[in-house]
Amino acid sequence: MSTGAVGSTAPPVAAGAPEKVFWGQKWEDNGFAKNEIHFDKTAKVMRDIFVALDGLSKELGDRYTWMDIACAPGGFSRFLCADPRSERGFGITLPVTEGGFRLLFTWSSPDERKFSVKFQDLLTLEPENCKPGHDGNVDLILSDAQYLPLRKADQPGPDPSLARAASSNPSLGIWALLFQQLRLGCSNLRNGGIMMFRLNLKDDNIDWYHESVCQIIAFVDAVFETMVLFKSGKSHQSDGTTYMVCRGFCKGEFEAMGAGELLRKSMNVSCFEGNVGGFRNMAPIFAHIGVSSEVRKRTRECFKTCMDAITRYKDGDFSYEATVKEWSCARKAPHLKLTARVTLGNAMPWAASRAAAHHLDRAATDIAQLAERLDPARKVDLADLVAFREDLARRCQETIAALRARAEEVRFILDAAQEA
Ligand SMILES: C[S@@+](CC[C@H](N)C(=O)[O-])C[C@H]1O[C@@H](n2cnc3c(N)ncnc32)[C@H](O)[C@@H]1O
Repeated sequence: MSTGAVGSTAPPVAAGAPEKVFWGQKWEDNGFAKNEIHFDKTAKVMRDIFVALDGLSKELGDRYTWMDIACAPGGFSRFLCADPRSERGFGITLPVTEGGFRLLFTWSSPDERKFSVKFQDLLTLEPENCKPGHDGNVDLILSDAQYLPLRKADQPGPDPSLARAASSNPSLGIWALLFQQLRLGCSNLRNGGIMMFRLNLKDDNIDWYHESVCQIIAFVDAVFETMVLFKSGKSHQSDGTTYMVCRGFCKGEFEAMGAGELLRKSMNVSCFEGNVGGFRNMAPIFAHIGVSSEVRKRTRECFKTCMDAITRYKDGDFSYEATVKEWSCARKAPHLKLTARVTLGNAMPWAASRAAAHHLDRAATDIAQLAERLDPARKVDLADLVAFREDLARRCQETIAALRARAEEVRFILDAAQEA
């Protein structure tokens, strides 16, 4: 686990070093018109996430595709379009006529033409309809939906009164969006890929909310290898907006638990349940996943990390530094077990043959000592020969028993490792 704050500038290039293309460089060069403030801000947030996480190079390699759920005005994807490693991106956004944000893409450059968009309410989409054709799974999912009816009228963006309520209880609107984003996202994510989603980590003192966040973290714990909390130092500094960047997706686990269907039903519960307590008990994805004490501890740490960042900002820390904290998930353990199994599987035959050689060596020494009794220089009678034969037989039986016992131990260890 590591904690750290990061700045937001591009990494320095050592003098004389070969020129390295930095993912944000093109974006830095072009910049945006001053009045496109929100567009510019979200692009900077994405740039800072890439800086903090080393360009997500481990998972994205040198070519990647992405899906951006709730993408307007489009800063996240505009940043990714400028990354030389990105190939194609697919966005989903609520039409302006239904109260959605306006998309500020102009598709005027080859970079921007990497991106195509579906204009549709994400709550009405099925996973197979998110991208054109059968484009396969993507490497990176971004999901940043806001529940529009609860936005303040003085914030930049569309008039909240135009937004249609998705849930009978306004507090559950964001949960309907989150469940559906996880469903659409994970269903279209490749094994080993990355999913980033927005989470509000301010309302720690509200029991049902704390417990629901705990359940979401338990879900992440079950289907991803690591989880990074990112809180920007330049945007949403005084509210609870954070991004959870979940890396190392295990598609097999997601499918084995039937998570797509559980998330779909949970979205429906969030839309139609009027009572927050009922929602917590009835959301099938919550009922399905147990919460470990480790996940409870991590949930408390997440809320605290976010609240500490807000307090620092309110106390006058305007350094614009992001807060970044990473945890390993339980999902990682099977890999440890696998490693242990492979290592033991490789090592045990070697250890077993060494133990056998040791036993045989000692038996050979003992038998050589016994054989001294048959020294041709000495007179040997029949009784000596009978005693020698009996000692020899006993020593052979002891050696066989010792070798069998070692073989039994080795088999036991290998079976236990196999089960693990
Ligand atoms: C914070 S903005 C996203 C900013 C974006 N990540 C960017 O980089 O510019 C929230 C987005 O959620 C979208 N949204 C909210 N409800 C939606 C829905 N039901 N379907 C699709 N998009 C939705 C809004 O239209 C808006 O574009």
